[in-house]
Parts: sequence; structure tokens; C-alpha cells
Amino acid sequence: MASIVFENVTKAFGDTLAVDNVSFEIKDNEFFCFFGPPLSGKTTILRLMLGLDSPDSGDIYIDGQKVTQLGAAERNMAMVFQNLALFPHMTALDNIRFPLVERRIPEPQIRAKVEEASDKLHIKHILHKPPAQLSGGERQRVAIARALVRDPVAYLMDDPISALDARLREETRVELKRIQREIGHTLVYVTHDQEEAMSVADRMAILKDGHVEQIGTPIEIYDQPANSYVAALLGAPRINLFNVEEHGKTWTAGDGLLDLQSENVPLGTKRIGLRPENLKIRDRSDKDLGEPAQVVSVEPLGGFTVVSVARKDNANEVFRAMLRGQPQIDVGTEVALGWDPSSMLFFDEGDRAISI
Ligand SMILES: Nc1ncnc2c1ncn2[C@@H]1O[C@H](COP(=O)(O)OP(=O)(O)OP(=O)(O)O)[C@@H](O)[C@H]1O
Ligand SMILES: [Mg+2]
Repeated sequence: MASIVFENVTKAFGDTLAVDNVSFEIKDNEFFCFFGPPLSGKTTILRLMLGLDSPDSGDIYIDGQKVTQLGAAERNMAMVFQNLALFPHMTALDNIRFPLVERRIPEPQIRAKVEEASDKLHIKHILHKPPAQLSGGERQRVAIARALVRDPVAYLMDDPISALDARLREETRVELKRIQREIGHTLVYVTHDQEEAMSVADRMAILKDGHVEQIGTPIEIYDQPANSYVAALLGAPRINLFNVEEHGKTWTAGDGLLDLQSENVPLGTKRIGLRPENLKIRDRSDKDLGEPAQVVSVEPLGGFTVVSVARKDNANEVFRAMLRGQPQIDVGTEVALGWDPSSMLFFDEGDRAISI
């Protein structure tokens, strides 16, 4: 139960600026995600929060109290590490008990805590096994249970379920969300999986090369990305980015594929973003459309179909439309592109979003 604030925190390892002047405020009881590609500084931020590393500059506050100089023991946060780090020679039960035994908590209390955590995580039946006899998913639950039995001010989890297969990941993230609501603690969660971040986070921070690109709710960031990097990081298939071409007073984009004559394109627009669900495939027989595009692949995925198109004479740049259901459309068909103007995103020279 704690708010966590970073104020202009910087941490370098030699020449590598792992965390670059990062500021954010995580609210009490919030499920807060850090999301970014490999080596973007996620683990380093958690280690700084936990007190395993100290910043080169900047300050860290827990519940309004400056903790920059305090060590991990004094901050009382529970961490699930990226590699889980269970003790191989101990059973699951002893692994979970370990942080309590270490703190000399009385036995009846330990039992009650372990009972409660293993109940929440549905792992009672595997408590007698050592980690080597557990599946990846079970090991991950044990690691989370070991964090849960503590009475920390916040839980920090570093990509805890990345090793699981897709189905188990989906199940586990729903469960984690439920557990966090139930226990009502601040949970700081690191992931490199955009779908996972979007599905669990109350709010999230998008990282790139050690700095924060944007902070907001998943939907805010999806709908109003601060720049094209953030826009491309969220959403699958990823957003289509069309370079804008100016011809005197008229505009096109994507080598003429989008005819923007009747669009209100803000001054300074260099690229246009259209998410696949907002890109439409239209019949060429319609008039006043842009240059023809050609269907280069059709992926029927059941509930929707991903149709990839490219300019007929330039198959290098492929754009994707996500259509509902299973439309009948063949590879090679000549089509035109359509869109809902209100769904267009505009980016300037520096790839920053232009708000309209
Ligand atoms: N102890 C260290 N010594 C030297 N460089 C480090 C150390 N820890 C992190 N770095 C560097 O800092 C940068 C950020 O690393 P970090 O581990 O925080 O990234 P990450 O986002 O957690 O990556 P991943 O998704 O691969 O876990 C990287 O360039 C990394 O090589
Ligand atoms: Mg990491």
C-alpha cells in the first residue's frame, strides 16, 4: 500500500545510460506496467525501486518519504525476479516459507500466510515438489506466492510470466489482475508483451532506451500515442504508417495510395498513421480513389481477417487491414484503400503526434 515516485532518476552502467532522467508517479493500489523492448531499462527501474541499485542522480519516494539512500531491507518491497530464482534444493512449500522464516515470523502465522497464498494461486497440490518437478507455469505461481506471503508495501514483478506458453500467459495475467484487486496492493509490473501490458495495467509507462516516452492508461496511449514509436509499439498487427507527399495544394500518402484531397491534414504532417482496424479495403470501381493497391496476402484468423496490400508496382511497403469476419477476397485483387478520417493519426518531422 504505497505510492512510488521517481524524480529525474538517472542510472548509468559505464557508457550505457540504462535509465535516463526518468520521472513518474505510481499511485497507491495501482496496477502499473512498464512496457518496452529488450534493454529499454525495465529491470533497472525495478532494481532502483527495490533498493538493489542506487541512482546516479534524482530521487525516489515511497509514500511521500524520500528513500533514495535506503537499502532494500528498509524499503520492504517484494520482488518477483525475471528469472524467478527459486531455490532448487527446496520444495515449493519451503521456497514460499523462506522469506517468513528468514524474518523469524512465528510458525502459526507462517502457516496461515502460506495457506492463503497457495489457495489464491491454486498450488496447494504441488507444494511438496521441488522446482525441477514443476512446469514453467507452476514455478511462476510459486514465485508469485513467495512474494505474496510477505507483507510488503508494494509488489514488483519483472516479466514474471514471459516463459509461459500463450494460453497459460493469458490465464495467469487474468489471475494476477484478480489477485491484485483482491489484496489491493500497489503492483509494479514489467513486461515486453504489449497485449499483456494493455490487458492488466491501470496505467502504463512506455520505455525506449532508458527514457519514458509516454505514461497513461492503455487506451489513452493506444488512441493518442505521443509519437510514432509508441504508436507502433502497441497494437497487433502494428499501425500502418504512410509517408505524406505534397503536390502543390493537394496531398497523398503512401506513394499515392491514400488520396487526401478531402482530408484535413494538419500543417507539418510528415506521416499518417492508420491502425489496421481503421484501414478499409474498397472496390476499385469506386471513383476518385488513390492509386491502385494489390492484395498480397490474406490471413483468415476466424473472427477477423488480416489483408495485406501493397502498391502494385512497389511490393516493398506492405500495409495491413484487419477486417471483421471472413470476407471473400483473393490475393492479386486490385483494390483501393479507405479509412475513417476520425481515426487518422498525424506525425510531424520528428515523428511526434500532432494533435487536432
Ligand atoms: N549490471 C549492469 N551492468 C552493465 N550494464 C547493465 C547492467 N544492468 C543493465 N545494464 C544495461 O542497461 C540497459 C538496460 O538494461 P535492463 O536490464 O534494465 O533492460 P530491460 O528493459 O530489463 O531488458 P530485458 O527486456 O532484456 O529484460 C541495457 O543496455 C543493459 O545492457
Ligand atoms: Mg529485464
